[in-house]
Amino acid sequence: MNDRLENIRQEILDGIEKHAESRAAAFELRKQFLDSKTGKIGQLMKEMKSIAPEERAGFGKNVNELKEWAQQRFAELDEKMKAKELQKRYESEKIDVTMPAESVSTGNLHPITQIRNQLIDVFTGMGFEVVETKEIENDYYNFTALNTPKDHPARDMQDTFYLSPEFLLATQTSAAQIHTMEKKKPPIKMIAAPGKVFRSDDDATHSPMFHQLEGLVVDEKITLCDLKGMLDMFVKKIYGEETTTRLRPSYFPFTEPSVEVDVSCFACGGKGCKLCKGTGWIEILGAGIVNKKVLENCGIDSEKYSGLAFGVGLERTAMLKYGINNIKLLFESDLRVLEQINDN
Ligand code: PHE
Repeated sequence: MNDRLENIRQEILDGIEKHAESRAAAFELRKQFLDSKTGKIGQLMKEMKSIAPEERAGFGKNVNELKEWAQQRFAELDEKMKAKELQKRYESEKIDVTMPAESVSTGNLHPITQIRNQLIDVFTGMGFEVVETKEIENDYYNFTALNTPKDHPARDMQDTFYLSPEFLLATQTSAAQIHTMEKKKPPIKMIAAPGKVFRSDDDATHSPMFHQLEGLVVDEKITLCDLKGMLDMFVKKIYGEETTTRLRPSYFPFTEPSVEVDVSCFACGGKGCKLCKGTGWIEILGAGIVNKKVLENCGIDSEKYSGLAFGVGLERTAMLKYGINNIKLLFESDLRVLEQINDN
């Protein structure tokens, strides 16, 4: 009988040595010996009955000892397998922290969006609220209310895309002045953006679709001085602290007087260069004092209130600021160009 116990002990030792390669295999091996129903040690217990009574106690003790011994071996084996599997996992999941990382290319905002955000920052900093513009306007808002009735020669200043006799693609963001003054009473201080506008115009510096940002201030005693002071602040923020402005007389039906605004050339400091065509000045926007007729068209008392307005082209601002010589570069989405302009 004791030989059988010894054989089982040997079988266990052999099994542990040869077959236990994983926790699962070790568990299966354990079952062969220690499973309460089918295990070989369990079987021995069942044989107690057939053993002579005087040997029974000794046999039982030996079987129990074997059982405890086996339990201990398998517990040790399980620990060993656990450690081995963990080690394997560590090895397979090992990362080389010295490996150089793959470079991630991040995008940046389109130059027009960058310029728009910069302008919005400057003007909201001065207390302006931002309103949206419409891409489709009717004749009244785009022209008539802006003191440009049908047959007015100033309509020729902008080649218009008509959708019908009544509706057209906005040629300027100035309609936002009318929409705002119809809704709000003075004091008014607004900029209109994003400002998509359309004109039948196409060359190196013009595109049939481009962007403007419109500004309007209406209050008591607004003068050209307010306009000049505000624009000076704006150009310093966008083109640099050294930059100044000058106003030249111009004509727009909806402003009186009207001005064309130049900035001192930020490339040469005013000495004269290619960018400013030797003049030391660069034209950047149109502006003026809101024509009394426009205020009256919107039901605003033109004796009590006056206003200033300006319209700035975003493409032109971006081209000047970033030295872009062809407007098409702003519409072609060529990453080699766009990647170079990251100014936020
Ligand atoms: N709307 C004018 C244009 O597109 C610009 C402008 C706006 C001029 C506001 C004066 C006042 O040319």
